[in-house]
This record gives sequence, structure tokens and C-alpha cells, in this order.
Amino acid sequence: MRLRRHHRLGPLWHGSTSTLVLALETTLLAGTASAGVPEQVTNIFKPLSTPAELISEVAWLALAVCAGIFLVVGGLLAYTTVRFRRRAQDDGAEPPQIYGSNQLELAWTVIPILIVLVLVLVTARTIADVQNRPAPPDALHVTVVGHQWWWEVRYPALGLVTANELHVPVSTASRRQLTFLRLESADVAHSFWVPQLAGKTDLIPNRVNRMWIEPTQVGTSLGNCAEYCGTQHARMLLRVIVHEPDDFARWVTAQQQPAVAEAQVHAGRDVFFATSCVNCHTISGTTAQGKFGPDLTHLMSRDTLAAGTAPNTPATLRAWVRDPQTRKEGALMPNMQLSDTELDQIVAYLLTLK
Ligand code: CUA
Repeated sequence: MRLRRHHRLGPLWHGSTSTLVLALETTLLAGTASAGVPEQVTNIFKPLSTPAELISEVAWLALAVCAGIFLVVGGLLAYTTVRFRRRAQDDGAEPPQIYGSNQLELAWTVIPILIVLVLVLVTARTIADVQNRPAPPDALHVTVVGHQWWWEVRYPALGLVTANELHVPVSTASRRQLTFLRLESADVAHSFWVPQLAGKTDLIPNRVNRMWIEPTQVGTSLGNCAEYCGTQHARMLLRVIVHEPDDFARWVTAQQQPAVAEAQVHAGRDVFFATSCVNCHTISGTTAQGKFGPDLTHLMSRDTLAAGTAPNTPATLRAWVRDPQTRKEGALMPNMQLSDTELDQIVAYLLTLK
């Protein structure tokens, strides 16, 4: 069964007769698109960004056409079942057998072809509209790198790096603001999917894919990796936080600051720099410049830990550092075998990285 490839708006999209499937699978996937906060389920019928709106229109059209076909076929079937059901007074004789009807065969060949043709054309137009949109000069450019199992988010022009959260300014009628994403992978294929903002696009090793979003409402949209990428694929969640322009500017300024060294947590800092934490994590303004794991410079500014799977609180942070494998078996961060004292110290230090 075709399950998911067709709703992609990336270069891998190979749509032809799959359009009918699109609306249905989009609908079916709605319930599984939740992320981060369990009680929130992403509503794909409430697009909050231009590409998602364009896709939504096509989905509604396909859904309406499918519903029409369902009603006609189901209605005729129900009518026939009732009208020609077996009755008590039936003589049991075989009804007249009809072989071949040019009119009927022509009708059930041509009508579906026309329906599919319309859907293909409308879909192709939408795909072209989304894919070929050039970046306006004031677009925000962000690089998103998929890792097993987290998202690295880079703002090259702004000189800042974060993880698992994409912060962008809102787009309004008076001041449109598009964000263009450059999608890469550090290891295997992942897929970037925030249903309310845009279609899916794969992040593929040794290749750059692109997509864009134009969120029209301030708030948080949840997303997830949509391409199986290993045992913790389901725990590779993502959130897009849309700010008012001023708020976004403030966020950028805060994120651009190097980490503040607070004297009272020097013990934890010493533990951090004496272990192999520094090989994988960056804390700007320090010698920790590792690139394999998330940048920790402003760790505590983020809502979640472990790629959206836990709220970022001191307790979950401690549990995570004590043994990441408990929450996320197979994650590349090992259990560092820290003593309780070291754990307390290192967490106290991490908590200052705001
Ligand atoms: Cu990354 Cu699935």
C-alpha cells in the first residue's frame, strides 16, 4: 500500500495518479502528527503558512472529489442491493446476462481519466507554485541538519546555532516574511515535516534540499521527522516557534551572546570540561566546540530536551544526563557514569546556560 511518499513536496515527489491518495493519507496522518506535548495534536486542516495553505486547498479538492465518488458508488451499490435483493416470490431463474457495453465501458474509463487528469494538473500547479518560489531579498535563511535523532538549526547570516527548535518571524500582510530552509543530513535520510507550515521534504546525506515556510500566526507549531531513520525515529520531534518581529530580534540577540560564566557553578563546569562532553557539544565562548551533539550555549532557553521528547526542567535534565539511554535507547550520547555529586554539579552548570 502506498502510505506516504506522495504528500512530499521535495524533489523526490513523483506524483502522477497518486493525487487521490494524497488527501486521504493527509487526513489519516493528522492524528499521528502530534509532537512534543502529548495533548496537542497537529490539525492539518488548519494551515498556518502559505505553502501549507496551498497544499490544503488541493487536499480539500481531492477530498471533495473522493467524497463525491464515494457517494455515487456507495449510493448506487446500496440502491442496487436493496432494489434487486432476493424476494420470497422470486422464481430463482437466472437473470439476463450482459456481456460488453460500449457506452458503460467508455463511461467508466473516460470519467476517471478526466477526474485524475484534473487532480494531477491542479496538484502539479501547486507543487510548481511552492517549489519554484524564489527567495525574496529579505528572506530569512536557515540551515536544518538532521541527525540521529535530533535537529541542528543554523542561522548562518546571524551566526547562531540551536537545536530542535526553529525560531522564525511571523509574516503579515503589511510585512511578508518568508523563511527558506536548506535541508541537510549528517548521517541517514530524515524528513522535515511540520504539517501546519508546509509539506514534507527529505534531508538526505550529501545532498541539499530546500523548502520554505511563511507562518502567518504567532505561536508554536509541532512537527516530527517523517522518514524512518533508526530506532529513535519517533523521538525526533521538532517545534517551530513563530515570533512577532521584535520578539524574534530579541531572541536572536540573546542567542548570539556567548555563554555566561557564573562563578558559583565552577565545579560543574570543571566536570563538564574534564569529561568527553566537550567532544560533542559546543558552548560558545568556551573551549567546548564539539559538533556531534546539540549546541548547549543556550540550552535552557529551549522548551524541550532530547529532541522534543521531554520538557526541559532541572529534573528531566538530570535524568537525561545521568543516562540518556533510558529515555532514548541507541542515542549517541552515552551514559557518562557520573557520580551523584558530579551529576548535581554538571546540571547546576547546565542550568546557567540560558
Ligand atoms: Cu530522523 Cu526519522
